[in-house]
Amino acid sequence: CVNMKNSQKLKNIATIELGRYEIETWYFSPFPPEYNDCLRLYFCEFCLTFMKRKEQLQRHMRKCDLKHPPGDEIYRSGTLSMFEIDGKKNKVYGQNLCYLAKLFLDHKTLYYDVDLFLFYVLCECDDRGCHMVGYFSKEKHSEESYNLACILTLPPYQRKGYGKFLIAFSYELSKKEGKVGTPERPLSDLGLLSYRGYWTRVLLDILKKHKGNISIKELSDMTAIKAEDILTTLQGLELIQYRKGQHVICADPKVLDRHLKAAGRGGLDVDVSKLIWTPYK
Ligand code: ACO
Ligand code: ZN
Repeated sequence: CVNMKNSQKLKNIATIELGRYEIETWYFSPFPPEYNDCLRLYFCEFCLTFMKRKEQLQRHMRKCDLKHPPGDEIYRSGTLSMFEIDGKKNKVYGQNLCYLAKLFLDHKTLYYDVDLFLFYVLCECDDRGCHMVGYFSKEKHSEESYNLACILTLPPYQRKGYGKFLIAFSYELSKKEGKVGTPERPLSDLGLLSYRGYWTRVLLDILKKHKGNISIKELSDMTAIKAEDILTTLQGLELIQYRKGQHVICADPKVLDRHLKAAGRGGLDVDVSKLIWTPYK
């Protein structure tokens, strides 16, 4: 993998066209040199091939037969679908997705070695096809127990609960694997806000039900959230107290409710009964 910490580099592509959206980009992304002189790129919203000119895209759309991401549909609930794409089987798609995502991710490594990753692409589906809303990537094998490498909600879809859906989804996969997980660091500001909101909501809901009679280990087993993340979340909320030589979790219902209110909305729920998936071997 190649480290692409490129925040200092000049932004090259200023806008992209993707499906029915024209989107302003946020950061530099290392597109191949022949795209260096482009201010705008045109993406096929299904296979993510990118082109320099609108006419090329129009021609492409007449012959591209994809109406959804490649790979397996592993979740469908209402109009929401999740597709799992193996970077090894769909290398070009994986690379295109990384180029696209880097436009909105600052300090993340861009992996050219997409073979080692699975991509989970969230779509809103209608009669024209399945339109990408966002995605997360995940290493097939992570020594650091990362259950998510990069996460992105495309700007037109942000702040509607999709990010928390993706985060929740990553933990549902970890539960199916029987493992705890944590996102790869560093987190962006928006990433941290979203994770904090998710962790707070999930943990405090359980604390409320159990009236605090629960250990960090038990919380971790129930949620697949790594113990360290539970501890920092609860410490950040000042819910951990040190009494008689022991750490105890404070679970005053009024305090919990106050924090829950501040944690924002719950996001879109993952209906686990609609997830059909077996862990990667
Ligand atoms: N201003 C303030 N708070 C925000 C904002 C914002 N612009 N965006 C998100 N948040 C916070 C809020 O607390 C929000 O909850 P609320 O709406 O209930 O108050 C919470 O984050 C999550 O909101 P969602 O709607 O569920 O998340 P969204 O779909 O917007 O996706 C994400 C969040 C993925 C981080 C998105 O902002 C994004 O793609 N950003 C660019 C890429 C990025 O930074 N990714 C994370 C990098 S770290 C990593 O990949 C491991
Ligand atoms: Zn296409």
